Amino acid sequence: MTNSKHPILVFGATGRQGGSVAKALLNTGWVVRALVLDPTEAASVQLRNSGVELVQGSFEETDVIRSAMKDAYGVFSVLPANLAAEDEVRHGISIADIAAETGINHFAYSSGASVGNELTGVPRFDAKPRIEAHVRGLDIATTIIRPMIFMEMLVRPGFGLDEGRLISLIRPDHFIQLTAVEDIGRFVAAVLADKPRFGGRTLKIASDRLTGRELEIAFSEVAGRPISYERFPDDILAANTDLAHMAKSLEDGPLAEHVDLEVMREMNPDLLTFRSWLAGNGRRSLDEALRTSA
Ligand SMILES: NC(=O)c1ccc[n+]([C@@H]2O[C@H](COP(=O)([O-])OP(=O)(O)OC[C@H]3O[C@@H](n4cnc5c(N)ncnc54)[C@H](OP(=O)(O)O)[C@@H]3O)[C@@H](O)[C@H]2O)c1
Repeated sequence: MTNSKHPILVFGATGRQGGSVAKALLNTGWVVRALVLDPTEAASVQLRNSGVELVQGSFEETDVIRSAMKDAYGVFSVLPANLAAEDEVRHGISIADIAAETGINHFAYSSGASVGNELTGVPRFDAKPRIEAHVRGLDIATTIIRPMIFMEMLVRPGFGLDEGRLISLIRPDHFIQLTAVEDIGRFVAAVLADKPRFGGRTLKIASDRLTGRELEIAFSEVAGRPISYERFPDDILAANTDLAHMAKSLEDGPLAEHVDLEVMREMNPDLLTFRSWLAGNGRRSLDEALRTSA
């Protein structure tokens, strides 16, 4: 079902994932409504100019959210990374509960690919699996999206690019699976267009898969100068719980499970390769990272 007169309510539309989703939904003919904190802010104005209906509100304003969902066909829910774990869980559950109460047809929740089968006991790692478990228990068609690491994460200043190095989490001969934020919107649009196929499913999504060595080659070619790949030294990983958790997950945990890129391409024929992303939307961030020290 696309081109429904009933909108999709998008959370986080002024941010990365929600912005990508709003754009892809508009491109496939949906009416898009976005809950935004400040309708006068530049990103909100841009959304409105592109045809998105804005509703002013925050995660705390459950009445505003309820009323924004009243005539909606679907919801895309994503929570910002900077929330405390208990707030992430509270808002994630509250948004899903309101969607179930208001009879939303199809609910898409963006979780994370590092979510595994077991809770870790660390609140910030367990927020997404706790929301997932709650959402699965609701009487509503739900698709849980688990994006692999964003390509955008590799071109942040401070990871050595200005010194001709890329420092990241995998061993040089291991694979990392990456998602272009631009692709997330296209995946979510494909999901919301096909409730019979995707309702009730949990989907890991990725755009491409490369080893550290292949990243080195791709970065060097696009930058026009040698960029060498290195893994974070063991002592840095040992001192940083978050990095260590991700590195372990990439080595033999949930982030190491292979996503079938053929299935991804069938869902999203415009799937980006890392090289096409780096030469396109990633180029500006790469140029900035090449210039900027930590
Ligand atoms: N896989 C990966 O590599 C990766 C990387 C980064 C993040 N993530 C995950 O992605 C998620 C974050 O998504 P993102 O990167 O798209 O986020 P983002 O770009 O930071 O955007 C956050 C959005 O939430 C909105 N927002 C913030 N506080 C709000 C509130 N109180 N009420 C309503 N809206 C509010 C923001 O609005 P304003 O623009 O007005 O502030 C913005 O639109 C997190 O779950 C994080 O763990 C994954």
